Amino acid sequence: VGKDGKNGGREGKAKRPRKLLTIADWQRAARQRLPRPAYDYFRSGADDELTLERNERAYDDWVIWYRVLRDVSAPRLATTVLGQEIQSPILIAPTAYHRMAHPDGELGTARAAAARGTILVASTLATTSLEEIAEATRAPKWFQLYVHKDRGFTKSLVERAEAAGYDAIVVTVDTPVLGRRLRDERGGFGLPEGLRMENLVAALAEGPPDGSTLSHYVADRHDASLTFADLAWLRELSHMPVVVKGVVRADDAAACVSAGVAGIIVSNHGGRQLDGAPATIDAVSGVVDAVGGRADVLVDGGIRRGTDVLKALALGARAVLVGRPVLWGLAVGGEAGVVAVLELLDKELARAMALAGCASVAELDRGLVARSRAR
Ligand code: GLV
Repeated sequence: VGKDGKNGGREGKAKRPRKLLTIADWQRAARQRLPRPAYDYFRSGADDELTLERNERAYDDWVIWYRVLRDVSAPRLATTVLGQEIQSPILIAPTAYHRMAHPDGELGTARAAAARGTILVASTLATTSLEEIAEATRAPKWFQLYVHKDRGFTKSLVERAEAAGYDAIVVTVDTPVLGRRLRDERGGFGLPEGLRMENLVAALAEGPPDGSTLSHYVADRHDASLTFADLAWLRELSHMPVVVKGVVRADDAAACVSAGVAGIIVSNHGGRQLDGAPATIDAVSGVVDAVGGRADVLVDGGIRRGTDVLKALALGARAVLVGRPVLWGLAVGGEAGVVAVLELLDKELARAMALAGCASVAELDRGLVARSRAR
């Protein structure tokens, strides 16, 4: 790649960052490489995308009251989540269709997570079977579950995950129906030829109802009658701890903990479900207080910088998850691209910790952050 202006004039200048220094750079590069419908599917939020935007923007409302004169010569990112040791508090959020981003697909993402010493949360909607993903890495990994109306099929997914060696079940509870993504609807988005939802082949083979679009699939197959009582059923299906993903309210978090879950992921599905939902970072403190240490609290949505991770951890999250940044890495460079994106975020976090006077993630406490203005 030439310098800006030397490689084809304005277009090259406008489109190709010379170096991928930030997650925003990776996103621009991914946008150039991906077919438009694929990029739009990954990028989109629901409806007017208010929550999608708010997730990112809300981090700017928090300021870091950095400490000085602490020994920060070797910031340590290592921590534990659900009792498992990880080298970084930045996990890979479950996202669908990785082979639509790059032929490496979920295998690339799984290997990259292992290389960086973090956890992949593999999606029910993967384009690689959960068994193949598990075979790609010995590193800890969790399986994200959608509870289907067909409880026998749901049970079979959990049993397959346990047999394949997954360490936790992450049940997504914010998707009784699919949020409305207008670009996908306008463009008639569907999976490209040759790709399938590999975990769902048996369910889809039962024929109608319709698996032609994700929205139809969710409406026909997901169990919209799911309640807190079903968490006990889910816990009984395996020895794996259950993590609930998609909570923003303190009372909901408390009810999940009473039902015996091991973790809560504060999430609004990356702004893809209920538009108008709060930014997840604004929901963290309330959930952390309600949970009171009885379960691990994680957060996803809008994390694009190491300083965002620092703020989330300071507000009480044990770890964070990133979804879209990983897809941009995958789209640009396959497995190596995901490694590079995770490394970028880890380095940004380590630098932010050093500048904030924190040598380990345990030192990221509430005294470190405050709202930048009164609300
Ligand atoms: C699937 O979970 C999606 O958000 O598209």
